Amino acid sequence: MKIKVLTAVSAALIGSAGLALADPDEDQLVINGDLEIVTEAAAPDHLSDVMDTIYSGWRFRSDETQELEMDDFDNPGMIFVDQAMDSWASAEGSEGKSCASCHGDDPSESMAGVRAVYPKWNADAGEVRTLAMQINDCRENQMGADAYKYDSAPMAAMEALIAVQSRGMPVNVAIGGPAAETWEQGKALYYTRTGQLELSCANCHEDNYGNNIRSDHLSQGQINGFPTYRLKNAKLNTVHGRFKGCVRDTRAETYSPGSPEFVALELYVASRGNGLSVEGPSVRN
Ligand code: HEC
Ligand code: HEC
Repeated sequence: MKIKVLTAVSAALIGSAGLALADPDEDQLVINGDLEIVTEAAAPDHLSDVMDTIYSGWRFRSDETQELEMDDFDNPGMIFVDQAMDSWASAEGSEGKSCASCHGDDPSESMAGVRAVYPKWNADAGEVRTLAMQINDCRENQMGADAYKYDSAPMAAMEALIAVQSRGMPVNVAIGGPAAETWEQGKALYYTRTGQLELSCANCHEDNYGNNIRSDHLSQGQINGFPTYRLKNAKLNTVHGRFKGCVRDTRAETYSPGSPEFVALELYVASRGNGLSVEGPSVRN
């Protein structure tokens, strides 16, 4: 078992009983009996000072929750993939077009590998784009349709449809070149203590993963599994929706979904998972 530095968070929130149960379990994730998912990998170079190994959040869940992700018939997130397939083929907006009009009827061809590299620098727009931003850009500028609300149900479903086409592929977001400034901004946010509890993302997800916090087993807070179906709220949850909840738990004012701060944070957090498999839609408690 790792020896971990006890920070303020331990004293404030983590029961001493939790310290005995550190570390992820040893289970292997294979979906539908044949799709092998990498849930443990060597940490990317930029993390080598702080950790050796990265783990998917799946490894920290109970056996019951883990099982729901091992077969698509049991994974409640897959219902939303089917719903998004209907949206994919439906014309909307002033141009009378659907996603399929430009990207083809079968997203498994046009969208394979896409989830793995987002957020991604878009040279024409001169910005780092999340997948949600790109979907809305297509809706507004290609279809003449209304943008989806950033962390709405139809957006989460469309993200799930696109994520599924990359399941099993390694997360591989680019952090250098034109994305570097946004990445640095995201990194700074990750290490900034917020709220009355004065906790940063790192205090929980870097210093204390493996420990228990309010009876929840703390993971590394990876986003390779997003969007995530949570048993707690029985819906698909977006990355920014989850960030919002975690910041709120520190009793801080939070940034909004889609804000430049959360976009930067998403790029940075995604890069901490470079090497894990794309897993979305995953199942968590
Ligand atoms: C009129 C044609 C058109 C329609 C309709 C359209 N798109 Fe696009 N889409 C594009 C073009 C062109 C690009 C490349 C744009 C760029 O790189 O800036 C693109 C890029 C994308 C990408 C990024 C792919 C990558 O490799 O980075 C995603 C994801 C995407 N579209 C999703 C959608 C979805 C979902 C819909 C329906 C809601 C949709 N698009 C509708 C034309 C379209
Ligand atoms: C007070 C401790 C705490 C802080 C601070 C915190 N989180 Fe969390 N976070 C949790 C807990 C508890 C969970 C649910 C169990 C788990 O997956 O770790 C969670 C879950 C997550 C997940 C879902 C992981 C998955 O596999 O589905 C992500 C992503 C996440 N946090 C990101 C963040 C980010 C980014 C920050 C900083 C803005 C942050 N968290 C701050 C406690 C915290």
